[in-house]
Amino acid sequence: MEDTNKLKDEVESAVSRAENLDALEAIRISELGKNGRITLLMKGLGQLGPAERRLVGKKLNELKNTILDLIEKKKRVLESSGIEAQLAEETIDISLPVRPQLTGSIHPISQTIDEVTSIFGEMGFSVEEGPDIEEDWYNFTALNIPPNHPARQEHDTFYLNAEKNGERMVLRTHTSPVQIRTMQSTNPPIRIIVPGRTYRCDHDATHSPMFHQVEGLLVDETTHMGHLKGCLIEFCRAFFGVEDLPVRFRPSYFPFTEPSAEVDIGCTFDGGTLKMGHGDGWLEILGSGMVNPKVLENCGIDSSRYQGFAFGMGIERIAMLKYGIPDLRTFYDSDLRWLRHYGFQPLDVPTVVGRASK
Ligand code: PHE
Repeated sequence: MEDTNKLKDEVESAVSRAENLDALEAIRISELGKNGRITLLMKGLGQLGPAERRLVGKKLNELKNTILDLIEKKKRVLESSGIEAQLAEETIDISLPVRPQLTGSIHPISQTIDEVTSIFGEMGFSVEEGPDIEEDWYNFTALNIPPNHPARQEHDTFYLNAEKNGERMVLRTHTSPVQIRTMQSTNPPIRIIVPGRTYRCDHDATHSPMFHQVEGLLVDETTHMGHLKGCLIEFCRAFFGVEDLPVRFRPSYFPFTEPSAEVDIGCTFDGGTLKMGHGDGWLEILGSGMVNPKVLENCGIDSSRYQGFAFGMGIERIAMLKYGIPDLRTFYDSDLRWLRHYGFQPLDVPTVVGRASK
């Protein structure tokens, strides 16, 4: 019988010399594998007499455990130094300048939302959000659009399957339900804008089943139609960057505002190109009105004390007008050439005074 101490010394030095996990595994196999040295010695135990067998068997078992232990310890050392080596190799120098050809660009929808937010932000509005999947009550009923109201048909709503209680959730058809959520959860004065996705079952060059809106809501004790007009005229002029841009308020109807007005901006179609400003054309860009007292009451706000105005506009529409993008559908094509052409530099942060450059 070979001296187990000698065997142990041999394996110990082999393990300490092992430089990687593969070498370590090779040692394990050559000692303890099916035909490994120790395994074969153990198989030979049967040929020994009972007393010797017990003695040698015990020693071999101890040797086996010692070797397993050595291998396990070395394995842990190799693994942790492997991670360190990998970390050292994969270090990224975050102080290196960006390589311009690898920089992505900001999508015109994100850019337009940032521009609208910065303009209203400077007027004291803060940003609110709400869920895309909405309860019927928030999307319609609380906004003074009861079941069977004809206005529901105009919205081409996407309905989800009915819940257990029979109610059907909807993909919000406008950002107006966030008016309700905010009025329920905050006390006036309220001054918010709500950028977000909206959904209607409609698809052509000027309609997409998913599009974006920005809602605005202001509620206070002395708010009147003059405030609505001043605020929106200022916005239009700042957004389109035309100081004397004509802005027209045209009487309209929304169940949740009374009175209601659609807002048009002046434009010309000189030589086939569209230009914002003085001319003989008008383009509709948003809907607005004084919050209907019924809507205030639905949210638990005393309509004899508080009044408000609200507005809602389509982001794609104002982006198309400002940046001359002819087809709505191209917004969602993820076409890199389009993005390079119409996209914006990431560091080009919009402000009211500095117009975004391309
Ligand atoms: N929610 C209306 C729409 O989607 C827009 C709007 C909002 C009108 C707020 C008035 C007040 O058409």
